[in-house]
Amino acid sequence: MCGIVGYIGSDNASDIIIDGLKKLEYRGYDSAGIALQKNGQILVHKYKGRIANLEAAIEGKDLYSHCGIGHTRWATHGAPSDVNSHPHTNGDGSIAVVHNGIIENYTELKEWLIAEHGVEFRSETDTEVIAHLVGLYYDGDLMDAVYKAAEKMRGAYAIGAICNKEPDKMVAVRKDSPLVVGLGEGCNFIASDIPALLRYVRKIYLIENNETVVLTKDEVKIYNADRKEVHRDVFHVTWDADAAEKEGYDHFMIKEIHEQPKGLYETLHRRLLEDDSIKLDGITITKEEIENLDKVYIVACGTAYHAGLIGKFAIERFARIPVEVEVASEFRYREPLINEKSLFIAISQSGETSDTLAALREAKSKGARVLSVVNVVGSSVARESDDVFYTWAGPEIAVASTKAYTTQLMCMYLIALHMAKEKGVMSQEEYLGYIRDLKEIPEKLKKILRSEKAIHEMAKDLYKTEQVFFIGRGNDSAVSYEGSLKLKEISYINSFAIAAGELKHGTIALIEKDTLVISLAAQDHLFEKMLSNIQEVKARGAYVVGLAKEGNTEIEKQADRVIYIPECRDELTPLLSVVPLQLLAYYIAKLRGCDIDKPKNLAKSVTVE
Ligand code: F6R
Repeated sequence: MCGIVGYIGSDNASDIIIDGLKKLEYRGYDSAGIALQKNGQILVHKYKGRIANLEAAIEGKDLYSHCGIGHTRWATHGAPSDVNSHPHTNGDGSIAVVHNGIIENYTELKEWLIAEHGVEFRSETDTEVIAHLVGLYYDGDLMDAVYKAAEKMRGAYAIGAICNKEPDKMVAVRKDSPLVVGLGEGCNFIASDIPALLRYVRKIYLIENNETVVLTKDEVKIYNADRKEVHRDVFHVTWDADAAEKEGYDHFMIKEIHEQPKGLYETLHRRLLEDDSIKLDGITITKEEIENLDKVYIVACGTAYHAGLIGKFAIERFARIPVEVEVASEFRYREPLINEKSLFIAISQSGETSDTLAALREAKSKGARVLSVVNVVGSSVARESDDVFYTWAGPEIAVASTKAYTTQLMCMYLIALHMAKEKGVMSQEEYLGYIRDLKEIPEKLKKILRSEKAIHEMAKDLYKTEQVFFIGRGNDSAVSYEGSLKLKEISYINSFAIAAGELKHGTIALIEKDTLVISLAAQDHLFEKMLSNIQEVKARGAYVVGLAKEGNTEIEKQADRVIYIPECRDELTPLLSVVPLQLLAYYIAKLRGCDIDKPKNLAKSVTVE
């Protein structure tokens, strides 16, 4: 979490840095700050709260500078406050640093700096340790000091540093936290992510782990851990900067919900050949390797994990290969029995999620082949995988994931169908039937979006509730986890999802008069079972919103309210059924006056453990 931006050139650094930080607010937004080179001094301004607070505080001040670094924070060590905000400086304020990540041995380093060097700390952060270390080692060469400081640190970091004695230089270093360099004409940039730089540059260097970068306005040099200069190919960004703007929508979340038909169309059609067969670009795993697979592990976090649950259904159903799905934070520490006969699938929108990356490395170290489903091109997960299958969702800005999820589902269906074909366990006819149905999904989804108003109306009746249960079976149960997460993360309603058949084994004790239960009954083969589950909660007084396919009107006899999705084969319903739940969460949160795109305590990219 946290976002860093740095600029060195001839224009006004503070404007450019603040503009870049705004594009990174998805990474954290509890405080923001900036450090600028000015007349042989480092000026620091940093404040608790959104970037707007920083902007307001510095408005009208003469801060013109050609070089500076900035930071938007998601607190890890020390509560959000002015003093804990970045940048942090060393004792005499000659060096300033911004940092994304966690320094795991910071307590040890802090004690050492206090005891051996009499350092006085001002904040509770781990980052302040970096500023003092760089200051301690500084002997006229900022790069050397950053190297020596990095040698002392354990943990994850992307750091930007400036020193008042070298006003025409900026140094950055990365280990396990993302860092990119933007290459301009007579100016250069650092940032945690490409959108921060899109207004200014299209040419990017993707910085690898343990690399240090030295920037002047005319030159960028990259060095490896042995201080040897390394060559890096330029990465040309082709996406549209407008994709990162709201374009008239009230929030990024609702804009991104509406972008799902396009994202799904792109994700499918970019792989579809004229005869409707699919060509999985970026996937080189051979037919023989697929045939020899013992097991597939799907590992991810949050919403991406929920996409993995559907991936399990699809791969087991279509390709008949056993699949385990696990959250990355558990997988990485449980010594999984994964081996060279396993395929490890990582799913990640950002491609920078710390736990997912660590799980991927664990799987690789055990010899498993690694395939990733990723949205952000060139991200760490993508770069460290054997095969990469990109979701074509476009940049996802809202913290609550929507279009990344549905495009992840599309990728999982395509991977499962590909495996089934390669293994010879699915006939060509059946395969083409699935492709035909997948092609119809974007239009069906548009139909659901046209009924947005009805969901908004429903939200008006439901938004005051303080507790919600989501229930479903099979695919619907996996979708109900996602629907529940969407609701709780943006509306702060206490929401809980459970497999419908499991309800009676304990949780039903919580159902009482008017408890809201959202019951997913979108699959024909489980429809009657779900009607029974609805009856069970109704008998205890629940207020039930049912979700079913058009035509399954029987549900109206049981549920108080019904949402219909277009007809679709059971296996593919998650692509549709999640969308009304996203809309419902959005409108409930809006009616409750919540900060939808930036929910409290969250950040878009979770680059810390
Ligand atoms: C919820 C949400 C998170 C992410 C999770 C993984 O709406 O967005 O649960 O899905 O933090 O992030 P990625 O996909 O970037 O690895």
